[in-house]
Amino acid sequence: MSSRIPLAYNPKVLELFRNPKNLGKMENPDAEAVAGSLACGDMIAVYLRIDGKTQTITGAMFESYGCAANIAASSIMTVMAKDKTLKEAWKISWKNISDELGTLPTIKAHCGILAVGALRRAIRNYFKDRERPAWIPEGPTADERHAVEEERLLEVLSKRAKRIEGELAKEEEEEKTG
Ligand code: FES
Repeated sequence: MSSRIPLAYNPKVLELFRNPKNLGKMENPDAEAVAGSLACGDMIAVYLRIDGKTQTITGAMFESYGCAANIAASSIMTVMAKDKTLKEAWKISWKNISDELGTLPTIKAHCGILAVGALRRAIRNYFKDRERPAWIPEGPTADERHAVEEERLLEVLSKRAKRIEGELAKEEEEEKTG
């Protein structure tokens, strides 16, 4: 019998995990971002359809390679972002997402931060070839720094993996000689 204690997910998280809204790849999005969590190594992609005249998000979709909490958080994030202006969507915080989900277990906060960080990265990407509005700070926000680009994630994870391999090899060596 497994001794694993299941995480206390509430019914809304479980429902969105089982039947996520807006899951899938969007064809020809107006903005997109792929981001990974430094906390766990999971990744998500966010796609936005944007009305350029009103700067309103008319559609939002996601793909997640994360956990149940991330799938639920990403799903609710796309629901919350739809019909908001880019400026309004920028203000969505992981706390808003957690509240909307009826709270996430504390150890799963980073899964919501990943969803928000990826949304912000997608919004920032939209302005890559356009004039950046004043409400987007020049440098990355904390959420964006926790939801890093794929290359950076791979770099950090491979460094971690090498460190672990080194520690294991050292232990093996000590066991042999000790
Ligand atoms: S544990 Fe990685 S996104 Fe939740």
